[in-house]
Amino acid sequence: MDFNSWLTNKINSIEEYLNNIIKEKSNPQGLIYEAMNYSLLSGGKRLRPVLLLAAYELFNNNLECVMPFACSMEMIHTYSLIHDDLPAMDNDDYRRGRLSNHKKYGEAIAILAGDGLLNKAFETGLGAVLSYDDNKKALKALNVIAKSSGVNGMIGGQVVDMYVHNKIKSLEDLKYMYSLKTGAIIKSSIIAGAILGGADEVQLKSLEIYAGKIGLAFQIEDDILDVTSTLEKLGKKTGSDIANDKITYLSFVSIEEAQRQVVQLTKEATEAMSIFGDKAKYLIELADYLTKRDH
Ligand code: IPE
Ligand code: IPE
Ligand code: MG
Ligand code: MG
Ligand code: MG
Repeated sequence: MDFNSWLTNKINSIEEYLNNIIKEKSNPQGLIYEAMNYSLLSGGKRLRPVLLLAAYELFNNNLECVMPFACSMEMIHTYSLIHDDLPAMDNDDYRRGRLSNHKKYGEAIAILAGDGLLNKAFETGLGAVLSYDDNKKALKALNVIAKSSGVNGMIGGQVVDMYVHNKIKSLEDLKYMYSLKTGAIIKSSIIAGAILGGADEVQLKSLEIYAGKIGLAFQIEDDILDVTSTLEKLGKKTGSDIANDKITYLSFVSIEEAQRQVVQLTKEATEAMSIFGDKAKYLIELADYLTKRDH
């Protein structure tokens, strides 16, 4: 199967699963289901669940039993975006081509919709642990996911991002922040998928290298697109980093140099996949596809 068909196929199964996770109900809290689905079902590249499936597929093709874990990653990611857009954080009015959650539902519901998605991610993940063949592997994977989204992972990175001017003095400091705010859940998607598939320590080590490099490349590209793209293409307002006086990769290097580093990191990520031979072809093509993205 060629890469584009492979990717479309994965995204379609993810969309189908996501569509059935949160059932809207007519009870007093009915609005929360709608607000959660508003952000969850509004598109997005679905990168994290795709990565989890791709890593799992190195070892096993029975994707159905890992779909709940993949979609948990998307729920954690979507919650992080809802909160990231809040006035207290980046104060962004658009996300995924529509009004951001708080612009549509107000801040209180947006905060709760984020909380609801985070909780639902673990309800879904734990439900899947209970029915997984090898419960211990599944618990280990969920543990990796939980840690990566917490204060030593994504939330920690968002804290540094918010207080960036006191904390970021060098490109190394910035890379540390990126490894948490963006890198952590990209990495855990890959590692969780590999653990679920039964990877050994050597294989996990190579996947960690791949994940660390594409995670950093992904956030550098996000910084570039914030300057070079448009609301129409990106689905979110450009110029957000400058408006918020953020330190980004472009505070240290030119756009051309940043783009060059994206390509170099992707090359290094690809090299780390050599131990998997032809089996890693989709992970390799995925990394390459991300360097060419325009949204
Ligand atoms: C945006 O993530 C936030 C970052 C971590 C850079 P994505 O670029 O994956 O956003 P969606 O999921 O496609 O909307
Ligand atoms: C967001 O980084 C990272 C998380 C949501 C954890 P950004 O603030 O750069 O993401 P965008 O550009 O708003 O998507
Ligand atoms: Mg932010
Ligand atoms: Mg933001
Ligand atoms: Mg950004």
